Amino acid sequence: MLSKYNVITLFPNLFDEWIKTGIISNGLDKNILKFQTTNLRDFGIGNYKQTDDAPYGGGPGMVMMVEPLDNAILNNKADINVFLTPSGSKLDEKSIKDLLAYESINIICGRYEGFDQRIIDMHSDYEVSIGDAVVSGGEVPAMFLMEALMRRVPGVLGNSESLVNESFTDGTYDFPVYTRPETYKEMTVPEVLLSGNHKEIDNWKNNKLKDI
Ligand SMILES: C[S@@+](CC[C@H](N)C(=O)[O-])C[C@H]1O[C@@H](n2cnc3c(N)ncnc32)[C@H](O)[C@@H]1O
Repeated sequence: MLSKYNVITLFPNLFDEWIKTGIISNGLDKNILKFQTTNLRDFGIGNYKQTDDAPYGGGPGMVMMVEPLDNAILNNKADINVFLTPSGSKLDEKSIKDLLAYESINIICGRYEGFDQRIIDMHSDYEVSIGDAVVSGGEVPAMFLMEALMRRVPGVLGNSESLVNESFTDGTYDFPVYTRPETYKEMTVPEVLLSGNHKEIDNWKNNKLKDI
């Protein structure tokens, strides 16, 4: 089960608050999960710790250099190296299950115009996209990927029943949910949910599961 996470990034500080929040901190406190960041800047070249350079062939923006990434990965060996790229395989239930089978993972975050292709050719076991939209860096996609993975590691979620019927896990989207008050601005909670009749409630919930 995937319990050891290392994120290679130019912006490790972005993860400082994230790891203190919700189920992730729960998994870390209970020692079910291990999380660390590797600051790519530590592997930068020369006095300026350079990690990016202009693209061959011209064009806008900068490209992440191969050497700092190569050294960062070689210094942090993991079972699988996952690169975040817009052109990667879209994250889905199958890829989450496949990744969970490993024990340790390196998640490599791009910035600027992306990675020198040679680092992907050398070290990528899998490329993940979080959807058909480009964001400025791999850090938010990395959090997205890790939350999808970490919540599936046994013991991390407070109530493991939350995973039952969860959207995508069984070919359906979850049923709608309600909480107090019973009436808000004349909108009421479906009566069956207040009935106390568990059989009817289960039937209602099953009928409300939407096919994907
Ligand atoms: C500005 S993007 C690079 C976009 C690239 N020039 C392109 O058009 O495909 C910088 C980095 O953000 C990350 N990124 C952006 N969108 C992503 C997505 N949808 N899924 C995964 N990673 C993404 C990748 O690590 C990427 O290298």
